[in-house]
Amino acid sequence: MNFALKNIYKYCEEMSSNRDDMLYQLERETNLKTLAPQMISGHLQGLFFEMLVQLLQPRYAIEVGTFTGYATLSLAKGIKENGKLITIEVKPELEAIYSKYFKASPNADKIEAIIGDAKSIIPRLDYQFDLAYIDANKKENLLYFDMLFNKMNSNGCILVDNVLWNGKVVDKNKDRDTLMIHEFNQKIKEDPRVESVILPLRDGLMMIRIL
Ligand SMILES: C[S@@+](CC[C@H](N)C(=O)[O-])C[C@H]1O[C@@H](n2cnc3c(N)ncnc32)[C@H](O)[C@@H]1O
Repeated sequence: MNFALKNIYKYCEEMSSNRDDMLYQLERETNLKTLAPQMISGHLQGLFFEMLVQLLQPRYAIEVGTFTGYATLSLAKGIKENGKLITIEVKPELEAIYSKYFKASPNADKIEAIIGDAKSIIPRLDYQFDLAYIDANKKENLLYFDMLFNKMNSNGCILVDNVLWNGKVVDKNKDRDTLMIHEFNQKIKEDPRVESVILPLRDGLMMIRIL
């Protein structure tokens, strides 16, 4: 992120609602204890998720890629009474961080954390989701999307993170990873079953509405 954009981003954070202390502490612990803390959703994106779920009020939602649980805690804030947010993480060692925060959250009873590979877990889930957040192995975005599609309610929303891939999607000569992200974006754009919009929020957030 260049200097001007960093300042604008900082201004947006300062002029948006405060986040709660639990999320601040979680980001701190993530910075101290993980090797790639930049994977966390963080302040602004977390607030966006909170806003979105409060408006949509999903009953069943799913997150693919828990990491330390920042987005999970943000998304859980809008889940309907008796609803559930399932979050899947392949690395068992992260449980030591996120489970403390999930237990302390006022929405603890709405969060179900599953450890394992999303590719084998998603097909076993018997839910119709109103909201899905895809934020795991970027090379598998299309696979997660295809697996989730038939489990989404009509008018449901799928969010996909990092679709701008550090701005590299606009490079003339795209490397292999960038090309994969670009091809996913193009596939969604051409899919007649959905509407989509890419927001240049953080690393690019795609919002997909199931028609
Ligand atoms: C970008 S981080 C997720 C950040 C988190 N959603 C947040 O907003 O703070 C991606 C996570 O996906 C996990 N992951 C990667 N491949 C996965 C898979 N196939 N199934 C489940 N989790 C996976 C990684 O271990 C990593 O913790």
